[in-house]
Amino acid sequence: MEWPREKRYQRLENFPKEKYDKLKEKVKNSPYRQKFHIQPNTGLLNDPNGFSYFNGKYHLFYQWFPLDPVHGVKYWYHLSSTDLVTFTDEGIAMKPDTIYDSHGVFSGTALPLKDKLFLFYTGNTRDENWIRNPYQCIATMDKEGQITKNDKPFINKVPDGYTDNFRDPKVFIKNGKYYCLVGAETDDNKGAIVYYSSNDLKEWEFLGNLKTDFSKNSGFMWECPDYFEFENKAVLMFSPQGMKAKGDKYNNIFQSGYLIGEKIDFEKGEFKHQEFKEFDRGFEFYAPQTMEDNKGRRILIGWFGLPGTDSVTDKYDWAHCLTIPRVLELKNNILYQKPLPELVKLRKSEEEFSFKLNNNSVNLKNEKRTYELDVNFENIKAEKVGIKFRVGNNEETIFFYDLKNNELVFDRTHSGELTENFEGGDIRKCKFKEKKLKLHLFLDESSAEIFVNDGLEVFSSRLYNRIENNEISFFTDGEIEIKGKLWEI
Ligand code: FRU
Repeated sequence: MEWPREKRYQRLENFPKEKYDKLKEKVKNSPYRQKFHIQPNTGLLNDPNGFSYFNGKYHLFYQWFPLDPVHGVKYWYHLSSTDLVTFTDEGIAMKPDTIYDSHGVFSGTALPLKDKLFLFYTGNTRDENWIRNPYQCIATMDKEGQITKNDKPFINKVPDGYTDNFRDPKVFIKNGKYYCLVGAETDDNKGAIVYYSSNDLKEWEFLGNLKTDFSKNSGFMWECPDYFEFENKAVLMFSPQGMKAKGDKYNNIFQSGYLIGEKIDFEKGEFKHQEFKEFDRGFEFYAPQTMEDNKGRRILIGWFGLPGTDSVTDKYDWAHCLTIPRVLELKNNILYQKPLPELVKLRKSEEEFSFKLNNNSVNLKNEKRTYELDVNFENIKAEKVGIKFRVGNNEETIFFYDLKNNELVFDRTHSGELTENFEGGDIRKCKFKEKKLKLHLFLDESSAEIFVNDGLEVFSSRLYNRIENNEISFFTDGEIEIKGKLWEI
């Protein structure tokens, strides 16, 4: 959205309290507010930040501009949780209040070390000529939740050969050393991840860029890098901007995906890997980050939104939310993303159903607005099988398996209010050649997340249905057996 600079850089601290309370009230009463997704009280939410487990709790922060549904001067907002299902609102964690982050406390990650949670972030600054200078900064949070920013950045300049698109530090420990990855753009406009090492988190050595084979159609800027290892493999993830759409792939304005490969030897910085794959085949998904929890699980959470895209809720003075947490597993070099098992705590009533279909469709009576649905399509003898949900009053959202063309199709063309000029349109597809189809859906007030075949593929979409259109139906042009369960949330 077009928005004057003075408004984008207004601080919440200088905003009249009464006016802000009114804004909060307006947002609270606005349509499309989510039930079980993290969303901002006002203004715009974007990337998850500092996702971690520290002092017996999960901590999750997010990028926030409080005053308008636009990308203004960013704060870190803090939530904590014991189960990642219900969250305690911990309020603002970091404000843009130093000379190193005057124009935004941008994205970053967290690392628990003894009795402190270290927070690494990009301080965004602009000078009087609006020239950007990014700084990589550290803050620490103690066990009482007190956050203190270090006096000086740990990386105070952009290395030669890179532009001012230089941000989103990811710090981790490997072989007793600290490593920091930073998302970057080269002077000749190629996306890159540069990295540094340190023995003490104070002195950092610049080691160049990670050498990957992902160089064709790989975009001009790689945001929000993350790296982790699973037994003998490694996953490098980032959000490239500027990839061109290619058939069913990369149709959103910007992408978010990963490379699976051999563990990186950071002395050499070379990465041997498989093809780049998108995390999500749906519409809104960006800038995810992961953490390892106290049970040794690798958990991912993403921004349920995209940069450079308006939101249907802008007119109500808020925009976006985070996705539900996903547990990542690697099997036979395939990354599976599963809904966090603890989400079963959200389940209220349970309903079981089973049908046999023969070239027809069947309706599941449903008045639930927000629900979880787990459904198996068995003994498929058909060219098309699928589900329609949020059906009624000329609205419907369709997800199906096209066995003739070996693809999954998600169509939200008639889903209700749509985001204007949404890049890539309102249908998404991906190649799929499995014998069985198992769908696991999470429907919140204004979103759907569809996990296919135990997390082999995931399709996410914001959905803006105003009227109570909640019918669910299953359809096929051949024969199938359907068995499933539905829980109200
Ligand atoms: C990704 C991003 C990050 C940046 C942050 C600013 O959405 O552009 O690269 O740190 O958002 O809010």
